[in-house]
Amino acid sequence: MRWAHRPFQFLVSAVISARCDARRGLAVALGSVSLCLGVPLKEEEVAAKSENNKKRNKKKKQKKNQQKVKEEEAKNIGRRRRKKKQKAEGVKEEEREIAGDDESCREVQVAATGKAMEECELERRWRRKREEAGEMLEAMSGVALFNLAPNLSVSRLCLGTMTFGEQNTLSDSYRLLDQAFHAGINFFDSAEMYPVPQRPATCGRSEEYLARWIKQRHIPRDRLVIATKVAGPSAQMTWIRGGPKCLDAANITQAIDDSLLRMQMDYIDLYQIHWPDRYVPMFGEIEYDPVRQYFSISIEEQLEALSTAVKAGKASGSIRYIGLSNETPYGLMKFIHVAEKYASHLKIVSLQNSYSLLCRTFDSAMAECCHQESVSLLAYSPLAMGILSGKYFSSDGGPTNARLNLFKGRYAEGDSRYNLSNKFIREATMEYLNIAKKYGLHPVSLAIAFVLRHPLVASVIFGATKSWQLREVLNACKIELTSEVIEEINMIHSRFPNPCP
Ligand SMILES: *[C@@H]1O[C@H](CO)[C@@H](O)[C@H](O)[C@H]1NC(C)=O
Ligand SMILES: *[C@@H]1O[C@H](CO)[C@@H](O)[C@H](O)[C@H]1NC(C)=O
Ligand SMILES: *[C@@H]1O[C@H](CO)[C@@H](O)[C@H](O)[C@H]1NC(C)=O
Repeated sequence: MRWAHRPFQFLVSAVISARCDARRGLAVALGSVSLCLGVPLKEEEVAAKSENNKKRNKKKKQKKNQQKVKEEEAKNIGRRRRKKKQKAEGVKEEEREIAGDDESCREVQVAATGKAMEECELERRWRRKREEAGEMLEAMSGVALFNLAPNLSVSRLCLGTMTFGEQNTLSDSYRLLDQAFHAGINFFDSAEMYPVPQRPATCGRSEEYLARWIKQRHIPRDRLVIATKVAGPSAQMTWIRGGPKCLDAANITQAIDDSLLRMQMDYIDLYQIHWPDRYVPMFGEIEYDPVRQYFSISIEEQLEALSTAVKAGKASGSIRYIGLSNETPYGLMKFIHVAEKYASHLKIVSLQNSYSLLCRTFDSAMAECCHQESVSLLAYSPLAMGILSGKYFSSDGGPTNARLNLFKGRYAEGDSRYNLSNKFIREATMEYLNIAKKYGLHPVSLAIAFVLRHPLVASVIFGATKSWQLREVLNACKIELTSEVIEEINMIHSRFPNPCP
């Protein structure tokens, strides 16, 4: 868990530095702040002896010299350690910052201790708050973290905010966000076009509710990873930049500024292109039709606009990392190649595509691209819009306030991709529900755990409109699917491959 993680990190860095000092023949006071202070060098020791009986001020002067030598040595150690650490795989950015500082080792260590203490205090305060809220139990469950990029640690569950402002009121949203955060979720995903089904009156509310919660709860901004998206071209959402027409530099910049303004934030952690500015089979389509290609903005221009925003700094609002969504292998590779061509252009860190028991299309070509290029999958619709919970399969067709019932006929993606009249979707789902029953698993646990175990998945993006739904998803973190269960799942998959592509 994050809270316990920091002091541990510090301890690890202390042990590493202790070892590296020992090798250089310096005395090391283990466990103390003076970890990096060495004993005097030999010639100075001799000098110190002969000076022993002289006046105090002379001693002082000598001490000062020793200090200088120590500081020099410490500086060198700091430099060497930095080099070593930068090489070491998987070293946390924060550690690098502490160990690689050019200040004297002692100063660095003191600063590190100060920082750790500050962290501890913050942690204590937060723990007290959580205890007050009586939600310690939930916090105990913990959600693991994943290093999506240097200095970008995301929880393996990400709360999607697509329902905030339509199915969920502001206070509903606060409750869900509180519950998620207290359970260890630090990762929240939104989009300029949310909530869904999209309409002019509600557009932007999801971002706004998320931002109001952060402000209202006084959550330190760096405790959160906020992701949002710019809408690709769409003829129907005329209320977004009159189209939105395209992803040219002006539209991307405008979208970033608008999101930052709505969220009253200095920066967005992960900014994603919601869907490509070019024809691609999407939201349930599987076959590419060359005739449908249309004029689109070059990936060079899109990437340049995003890269510029990343470097813009706080003054004009900025983004930290960039990702793609609803992309194809071609698109992902193209973005990566363009980034390689121009040193000023940023590399994509994540791909947000659909992945679930009912949609494993990622595994065919995209998985290879992501693996080879170190791009992580942020898997959306892990429950196939709730279908995999089994709620739509009761004799009455499920709760009337469930999304696919509530928005029937006015939610294009729901109606086509997650079409409950499609017999393959129904039959495949029934089979997965049977597996869950046979092994005594909650269907939600089965579905979420299946996605979480994928080696390329950084985080699973899920939605919840009720607290108990969120709890079911959190529970999935505690289970691990056996090879027997996986084998059964794979048998169903070969009979019904990707009914919700
Ligand atoms: C890490 O990210 C935070 C923003 O979340 C930023 O304030 C901080 O300066 C970053 N640290 C480094 C070492 O880049
Ligand atoms: C978005 O792109 C369209 C088409 O190029 C352009 O007419 C419009 O001015 C752009 N909108 C913004 C806000 O820059
Ligand atoms: C849903 O599936 C049924 C049965 O296959 C089909 O007739 C209908 O057109 C589909 N609806 C949509 C919106 O794709």
